[in-house]
Amino acid sequence: LGLVPTMGAFHEGHLALFRAARVENEVVVASLFVNPAQFGEGEDLERYPRDEEHDTRLAEEAGIDVLYVPDAEEIYPPGFETWVDVERLGSMLEGEHRPGHFRGVATICLKLFNLVRPRRAYFGQKDAQQVAVVRRMVRDLAVPVEIRVVPTVRDGDGLALSSRNAYLSSEERERARALPRAL
Ligand code: PAF
Repeated sequence: LGLVPTMGAFHEGHLALFRAARVENEVVVASLFVNPAQFGEGEDLERYPRDEEHDTRLAEEAGIDVLYVPDAEEIYPPGFETWVDVERLGSMLEGEHRPGHFRGVATICLKLFNLVRPRRAYFGQKDAQQVAVVRRMVRDLAVPVEIRVVPTVRDGDGLALSSRNAYLSSEERERARALPRAL
């Protein structure tokens, strides 16, 4: 069983994860949950792109066996108070600017691993620090899942595909292109 954890708004980057999972597993589950715990105050939780109908169609076309769309209550039942904190790796770089973000990511990933019990889980190399945090959590807590990392998918102008690219003005997009150029 392979799990592709996502927050929806599927694009070619997600489809690459689905394809990798499809090749390596008998059964592929994709989860779709916009995880409030990884959004800081003033971040884009409310306006994060959501289109479940479109995502369902793309998941079907990609041969996903189960699209798991949990309710917030299932993930965070009343009285929820247990968190996974990958201390050093989660508080540097992006973590320094987004306090609590990687705590939210590590916690939801462990929760999804426990609910779905995958043998392998798929993440994009684009979120390199997320990959490092999840790998460390899996190693430190002896979680029985293999973390598979799939190469970044880029747009024609070199920018890594991301659901949040939709927020960029053309000037911001031009500035963001400094990243692939520098890489
Ligand atoms: O990369 C994402 O979309 C999210 O951080 C993840 C891994 C699905 C956890 O909510």
